[in-house]
Amino acid sequence: MHNFLPVAYFEGKFVPFEEANISIATHALHYGTGAFGGLRGIPHPQNSGQILLFRLDRHCQRLSKSARFLNFDLPADKIQSVIVDFIKKNAPTVSFYIRPFVYTSDLGIAPRLHKVEKDFFVYGLELGDYLSPEGVSCRISSWYRQEDRSLPLRGKISGAYITSSLAKTEAVESGFDEAILMNSQGKVSEASGMNVFLVRDGRLITPGFEQDILEGITRDSIIAIAKDLGIPVVERPVDKTELLIADEVFLSGTAAKITPVRQIESYHCSTHRPITDRLRDKLSAITEDADANYRDWVFKVDI
Ligand SMILES: Cc1ncc(COP(=O)(O)O)c(C=O)c1O
Repeated sequence: MHNFLPVAYFEGKFVPFEEANISIATHALHYGTGAFGGLRGIPHPQNSGQILLFRLDRHCQRLSKSARFLNFDLPADKIQSVIVDFIKKNAPTVSFYIRPFVYTSDLGIAPRLHKVEKDFFVYGLELGDYLSPEGVSCRISSWYRQEDRSLPLRGKISGAYITSSLAKTEAVESGFDEAILMNSQGKVSEASGMNVFLVRDGRLITPGFEQDILEGITRDSIIAIAKDLGIPVVERPVDKTELLIADEVFLSGTAAKITPVRQIESYHCSTHRPITDRLRDKLSAITEDADANYRDWVFKVDI
């Protein structure tokens, strides 16, 4: 059961979450013509009157760009101001997750993006750990990540998540925690809702943007942090076998943060993870506003 935050933003107004409902004829429900964001908020560990949002500007920009793929002009600063008001109205006291969603809100049939009304809503829910911080087992999915030539993969388009859903359920029903998907070129792409990193010989390696990945904001942050720590970072195509013999493997995402991988198929990864641990400690300090060098990544809302 989820604990939803009491107030949602829906059809241009703040309303009780229970009253934010859509019709069964909603266009996006049928055609997957929505796009979403997902960001975490936490109460400031030292100042109970403040909520911290990690890289709010980047999340709003990505959603605005996703909206463009839906033929919808929704400026990032509009999204940002709604999210800030949303937080003030809810005044959360525990860690939570915000889900802003843009979609074709018209009622009726015929898949298209022109001449169809669009709308934007925001709701939130309490969220602790999404994956076990102790580490997860991964299956190499029999489902492949979609290709950018058939879907705008730089947007978080709701319809694309059928593949993530198939992969995740296949993994869980066959005894694993998560799925790692290859792309159509047979290279490592990403997990069901996370980017993938590996460490080999002290270098941090992750598939590049041309590998049909989502442009993860956590991924971007980890790359910047690693560079600042003097860890060499390489963005390049990754083979499945490299994952199997890597010194360390981890997944990254807003929900998953940095989650170590402890097993891939029948291969067990080392539990000695010095680089993963370093990056994880740094990322968590940054999100808690405890690292002065990255304060501009943390947006503060006074509640
Ligand atoms: C498919 C997919 N890949 C990667 C990510 C990680 O992205 P971010 O770090 O921006 O949360 C997500 C999470 O939203 C995702 O859904």
